[in-house]
Amino acid sequence: MKITLSVIKADIGSIGGHICPSQQLLQRVGNHIEQTAGDLIIDHCLNFTGDDIAILMTHTHGPGHDEIHKLAWDAFLAGTETAREQGLYGAGQDLLKESFSGNVKGMGPAVAELEFEERPNEPFLFFAADKTDPGAYNLPIYLAFADPMNTPGLILAPGMSRGFRFVVMDVSHTEEDRIIELNTPEDLYDLAALLRDPERYVIESVWSRDSGEQAVAASTSRLHNIAGKYTGKDDPVMLVRVQKSFPATGEILAPYAIGHFVAGGMRGSHQMPLMPVGLDSGISYFDGPPVVSCAAFAMHKGRLTEAVDAFAHPFWNRIRDRVADKAVEMRRQGFVGAAMLPMSELEYTGIMEKLDALQPRFTVHE
Ligand code: F6R
Ligand code: MG
Ligand code: MG
Repeated sequence: MKITLSVIKADIGSIGGHICPSQQLLQRVGNHIEQTAGDLIIDHCLNFTGDDIAILMTHTHGPGHDEIHKLAWDAFLAGTETAREQGLYGAGQDLLKESFSGNVKGMGPAVAELEFEERPNEPFLFFAADKTDPGAYNLPIYLAFADPMNTPGLILAPGMSRGFRFVVMDVSHTEEDRIIELNTPEDLYDLAALLRDPERYVIESVWSRDSGEQAVAASTSRLHNIAGKYTGKDDPVMLVRVQKSFPATGEILAPYAIGHFVAGGMRGSHQMPLMPVGLDSGISYFDGPPVVSCAAFAMHKGRLTEAVDAFAHPFWNRIRDRVADKAVEMRRQGFVGAAMLPMSELEYTGIMEKLDALQPRFTVHE
């Protein structure tokens, strides 16, 4: 049976600045889906990560389907009403366009969609990150799908022997989707050369070269490229099918033990380590640190099991402690050098005005 997984997420308002959505807001979004979806979808699941609400839906209509996208858009619009009524901060923040035009891509919300012939048992993972941008997944995906040091399946599992095909998007090209396809292992160095710049080159999807099936779909939107001004970080979502001809769940999760530095944190303008956190957790320190959650599911004919919290295991407590130490260490150097993003990536324009105003005051030594 061909099933589509669609996850659409948006920040439509939160409590206490950008910490997390209110219970009432979540309920409103959930009620909208339950009351209006009818038989358009098979199943759905709602959760939040930081200030972002994600709607995961299963259905049979394929990716980019207008009614599915409209269902999520309308749920976020309804939620925005509640956010306004409650005086939540940033109500409707990610809904950048006035009216719906067939697909939420380019309208603010982040989208990741996967369509596949359902396996007899279909395990998959749903990742959501807050206070960072789509490039945050580059390193974990590279390690999980291309590096045998992380993924022994690349040398042990017959179903992975031919490697994977990576589709990478140049997100600085805003006129249309500019992509490149690279095959690992043979294109490994070329892939690395692109992925070293996660603000520009972002993994969009990964495909098995053995079965031809899609393993990964990740959101690639850069809000500042859509809006042309600061609108918050892009807080990416990602779907990953696991096991058999795909890496095992543990191989996909392992790279998050690094707590690698990503763009984001306070004012979307810093380098901060990515902390794996439980489902439905907010943010705190320095409007961060950037966080990533992971919900694990099984599925049968599009019906979802309950979500299992992949980062709730005690192992990750130790990792969180280490990431907190890294975050504090980086913050000790404030605005200087590596702690803050380069000019091109700063989410606020105030500094440009400051620097422009200073130019006439420069003089040249005689
Ligand atoms: C980062 C983020 C926050 C805000 C910060 C200031 O993605 O959303 O760090 O940038 O709290 O917010 P404003 O400018 O709304 O006061
Ligand atoms: Mg926000
Ligand atoms: Mg957010």
